[in-house]
Amino acid sequence: MSSWYEKLSHKVEDNAFKLSVWSAIAVLVGGLVTLPPLFLQGTVQKIDSVKPYNALELAGRDVYQEEGCFYCHSQMVRPFKWETDRWDPTRQYGDTPYSKAGESVYDHPFLWGSKRIGPDLAHEAALRGSAAWQVSHLKNPRETSPGSIMPAYPHLFETDNMLDTEVIKARMSALRILGVPYTDQDIQNADSLAKNKTKGDALVSYLLKLGKDTMQ
Ligand code: HEC
Repeated sequence: MSSWYEKLSHKVEDNAFKLSVWSAIAVLVGGLVTLPPLFLQGTVQKIDSVKPYNALELAGRDVYQEEGCFYCHSQMVRPFKWETDRWDPTRQYGDTPYSKAGESVYDHPFLWGSKRIGPDLAHEAALRGSAAWQVSHLKNPRETSPGSIMPAYPHLFETDNMLDTEVIKARMSALRILGVPYTDQDIQNADSLAKNKTKGDALVSYLLKLGKDTMQ
């Protein structure tokens, strides 16, 4: 005599069409339970000190995505004790606060990531705030971090990798539609901020923005 759930599973799984319909219903119900609450006001608490990326930082964020830095780096300190404690105290960042949703409100898409082949970069600006260190590390990680397996990116600082200010402005306008509060002036500033700058310069300025608004 088979149990009730065996009977039920036979009924549902014997027929591929029925199984698809029931699976679709399960996904819809799951989606309705988990997604709409996120759109209700007040779920994500705003943090006043968090400001949108300026033109150069935003261009650097694009480079971060193009180069796939997120394949090796996360940008989220999870709210677990072992996670907030894991930071190496000799590098002065023991006991770091965990990441809040309000820190990523201007990230479209967010880059929290799930891979930690390299260290988490959520608070990079507060940990390694020196542009000179970041440049030298990106050009040759072995120079600053002996034995590092991180790839070198010297080409990003060469003159055939200059930024295109028009592309940055178009991106900022698109983000404005998504709700990032850019003013016309912010968008115009791309001309001066990104002028004669390389993708490498933009990437460094992005790294120096990570965690800056909440950690410093
Ligand atoms: C193959 C994996 C891998 C990739 C891809 C990678 N990294 Fe790394 N990264 C590492 C490892 C491992 C370390 C730790 C050793 C070191 O400092 O180089 C590291 C360290 C870093 C650090 C120093 C973090 C700290 O505070 O100690 C920064 C900043 C960084 N990476 C940025 C980047 C950026 C930006 C990119 C993309 C352009 C990138 N990484 C791509 C593996 C990677």
